Amino acid sequence: MGFPEFFVVFTLLVLSIRAHVLAYQNMTCNPNDMGALDGFSKCLASEIVGWDNSTSSNCCTWTGVTCENSNVSGTRVVKLELGSKRLHGVVCESLAGLDKLKILNLSHNLLSGSVPAKLFQLQNVEVLDLSGNEFNGLIPVDTDLPSIQFFDISDNKFFGSIDWSLCKTSTRIRVINLSDNYFSGVSTSLGNCTSLQNLCLGENNLSGSFPESLFQLRNLSELQVQGNMFSGPLNDEIGNLSNLVKLDISLNGFSGNLPDVFRSLGKLEYFSAASNNFTGQLPPSLSNSPSLMTLNLNNNSLNGPIVLNCSAMIHLSWIDLGSNLFHGPIPDSLSSCQRLSTLNLARNNFNSQIPDSFKNFQALTYLRFSESGLVNISAALEVLQQCRNLSVLVLSMNFYDEEIPSEMNFQFENLKALVVANSQLRGSIPRWLSGCNKLQLLDLSWNFLGGNIPFWLGNFEFLFYLDLSNNSLTGQMPGSLTELRSLINTNISLEEPSLGFPLFVYKSPSSRGFKYKRVWSFPPTLDLSKNKLTGPIWPDFGNLKRLHVFNLKDNYLTGTISDSLSGMNNLETLDLSHNNLSGEIPNSLIQLSFLSKFSVAYNQLYGEIPTGGQFLTFSSSSFEGNKGLCGEQFIPCQLERPPPPPPSHQSPSNRMTIIGLPFGIGATTAFVLTVTFCFMFGWVFPKADTRRRSNSRC
Ligand SMILES: *[C@@H]1O[C@H](CO)[C@@H](O)[C@H](O)[C@H]1NC(C)=O
Ligand SMILES: *[C@@H]1O[C@H](CO)[C@@H](O)[C@H](O)[C@H]1NC(C)=O
Ligand SMILES: *[C@@H]1O[C@H](CO)[C@@H](O)[C@H](O)[C@H]1NC(C)=O
Ligand SMILES: *[C@@H]1O[C@H](CO)[C@@H](O)[C@H](O)[C@H]1NC(C)=O
Ligand SMILES: *[C@@H]1O[C@H](CO)[C@@H](O)[C@H](O)[C@H]1NC(C)=O
Ligand SMILES: *[C@@H]1O[C@H](CO)[C@@H](O)[C@H](O)[C@H]1NC(C)=O
Ligand SMILES: *[C@@H]1O[C@H](CO)[C@@H](O)[C@H](O)[C@H]1NC(C)=O
Ligand SMILES: *[C@@H]1O[C@H](CO)[C@@H](O)[C@H](O)[C@H]1NC(C)=O
Ligand SMILES: *[C@@H]1O[C@H](CO)[C@@H](O)[C@H](O)[C@H]1NC(C)=O
Ligand SMILES: *[C@@H]1O[C@H](CO)[C@@H](O)[C@H](O)[C@H]1NC(C)=O
Ligand SMILES: *[C@@H]1O[C@H](CO)[C@@H](O)[C@H](O)[C@H]1NC(C)=O
Ligand SMILES: *[C@@H]1O[C@H](CO)[C@@H](O)[C@H](O)[C@H]1NC(C)=O
Repeated sequence: MGFPEFFVVFTLLVLSIRAHVLAYQNMTCNPNDMGALDGFSKCLASEIVGWDNSTSSNCCTWTGVTCENSNVSGTRVVKLELGSKRLHGVVCESLAGLDKLKILNLSHNLLSGSVPAKLFQLQNVEVLDLSGNEFNGLIPVDTDLPSIQFFDISDNKFFGSIDWSLCKTSTRIRVINLSDNYFSGVSTSLGNCTSLQNLCLGENNLSGSFPESLFQLRNLSELQVQGNMFSGPLNDEIGNLSNLVKLDISLNGFSGNLPDVFRSLGKLEYFSAASNNFTGQLPPSLSNSPSLMTLNLNNNSLNGPIVLNCSAMIHLSWIDLGSNLFHGPIPDSLSSCQRLSTLNLARNNFNSQIPDSFKNFQALTYLRFSESGLVNISAALEVLQQCRNLSVLVLSMNFYDEEIPSEMNFQFENLKALVVANSQLRGSIPRWLSGCNKLQLLDLSWNFLGGNIPFWLGNFEFLFYLDLSNNSLTGQMPGSLTELRSLINTNISLEEPSLGFPLFVYKSPSSRGFKYKRVWSFPPTLDLSKNKLTGPIWPDFGNLKRLHVFNLKDNYLTGTISDSLSGMNNLETLDLSHNNLSGEIPNSLIQLSFLSKFSVAYNQLYGEIPTGGQFLTFSSSSFEGNKGLCGEQFIPCQLERPPPPPPSHQSPSNRMTIIGLPFGIGATTAFVLTVTFCFMFGWVFPKADTRRRSNSRC
């Protein structure tokens, strides 16, 4: 653009803004509307910033208020948009005096109480958004919103049956969002909303069989009823909804076979029926759907072999068939689904090898195949290394009692996370792993691996989660572990696509576990517990400023606890219990202000337990089983310090001696830390932020 043109455009712009401002200033608030707004603001328990009579008594200039002129009704308020304004209190009936209102948006505030019936009778309202508040009560049966197009009261506490005549008069309604409330029934009246495109009933208290009236909504493109208590079969008539693009019926109690109606659902891209009680085989129309991109049938009781026709399913990119009763053989043809990038087949009963054809899986990025009766780990790795895009590989609980191949030269160029835990694997930490330059997360816990921890584990540039616990590793910890770059550099951040499915960390088989959507959101961890490691804890571990979990429990480590460990200033868990450590607990550890779990129990430590910082929150079990530890809360220290114990090795009975507390072997509950990967739904990703728990007691 040359300068003259620019000037002309600029001038026009200025003029148009001026004109706009003039027109705007010209409008003065209609007294009726002023009264309505005034009444509204007086009912609230909070002020609305920008609604100030003293600056302007013209409501048309107030925040969130838009007026419009019409030669019929004069200047009237047509929009009230007060989303996310931290409003609290109740909404009173006077607001319904804004009878020309087209848009009412009070979303994401803290408004409570019931909504006045008259607000559901505004004749001109096209958009009503009350989502994300704390409204409760019933919606009046005689709802009358003839102009409504978008109706969102999601994420409140409304209850009762959905039996309002919302659609009797409204012929243009497109969106109804009632999700996240306590609605408990659906009457036939919804069947009159024939123009509806988007219906969200998820996360309510709906039960019984699927409401038949919904089958009349032929224009629906999105139907979500997840997280209710619907039961019984899914009727064939779902096939009448031929415009559906997204269908989510997950987390209900539907049972019986999946209806074979997917041929009629020619636009369906997303189908989730996860966590129901469906049985039987995949219906042919589903496994031949040319439109489907995402298929989630996790956690049902489906059986038979997996038959997907990849020649037909040309858009399929994400499948979760985990936690079902599918059996083998694993179909050779699966790899011809050319766009398939995420595949979960975990927790089925294949009892076979990964087929050779999987090497053709070029789009495959995430593969979870744990607990599926796989055999022959060498063959599996040989095949999968050829999947060039493979980035997350989870194979836990397979290959029982096999030996992990060490001498092969596998190359997993793009592997970021490898989990082969809980498989009773023999052998040692395989050399070929050293070539996986992008590795961020490695979990080989709960196997029978022996030998040393190789020094090259310290060379990984991105490794920040290493779990080798519950093996039979021997020798010293390699000093190179203190040089792990991504545990040192706190500023490191990697751009990363999401995992495709969340990963779970279970602290014990019974606990609920944390789940993480991205590899990178796992807490930085070094877990070498329950091995046979000897030698010292290198003072340089103090360099690992990013480390959150450091677990060396249950080894044969000796030497003292260096005061430089206080350099790990993001540490939340430090477990050095059940070793042969001697000396004192360095006072510097009180600087670890995020430390919430700490144990040095069952060592040969002596001296005063530091006081201050997080140490004030640790209980005696963190310190028991040592010879000479003392502290105010436990055994008061005598004025004279006890002499250091002889550095002899202890008899087992000594190991159980504790300071003044009765203690039995049963109390040494195993600290089970294993990573299990579960596969849930693409949209449920609460990330456990362990940091917030830093004040919790251990
Ligand atoms: C502005 O106000 C004048 C009189 O005050 C009126 O004639 C004119 O129509 C108004 N313009 C608009 C856009 O409302
Ligand atoms: C604002 O002014 C109008 C008229 O001047 C008056 O009726 C109303 O009570 C005032 N509102 C507030 C909140 O002061
Ligand atoms: C305003 O009045 C004129 C003439 O009566 C009519 O043509 C026009 O449609 C009206 N405009 C509106 C917005 O009602
Ligand atoms: C309501 O306002 C919020 C902003 O607070 C906005 O995000 C939301 O999209 C609005 N709702 C509608 C239906 O436009
Ligand atoms: C429905 O409401 C839920 C909760 O407020 C929200 O997450 C979802 O995006 C909404 N759906 C539509 C289609 O507006
Ligand atoms: C739909 O509306 C018509 C009148 O508009 C009414 O007769 C009929 O009973 C309604 N159907 C349902 C299922 O509410
Ligand atoms: C359904 O959608 C079609 C195509 O968009 C449209 O022509 C028709 O009017 C819609 N039906 C209703 C009841 O809105
Ligand atoms: C949900 O429904 C069950 C029975 O269907 C009922 O016992 C329970 O009180 C309902 N919960 C709420 C919050 O309405
Ligand atoms: C579904 O379609 C079939 C065949 O067109 C029809 O017989 C049936 O009445 C429809 N069901 C509903 C609920 O509209
Ligand atoms: C699912 O089926 C199992 C066994 O068939 C039964 O125990 C369970 O109660 C069912 N769950 C629901 C929600 O219906
Ligand atoms: C599996 O589905 C059942 C309901 O059928 C549900 O109660 C359970 O929480 C689901 N499990 C997982 C891991 O999603
Ligand atoms: C697989 O899909 C192709 C293309 O739609 C079709 O020609 C073929 O018959 C299907 N095969 C089976 C076994 O259904």
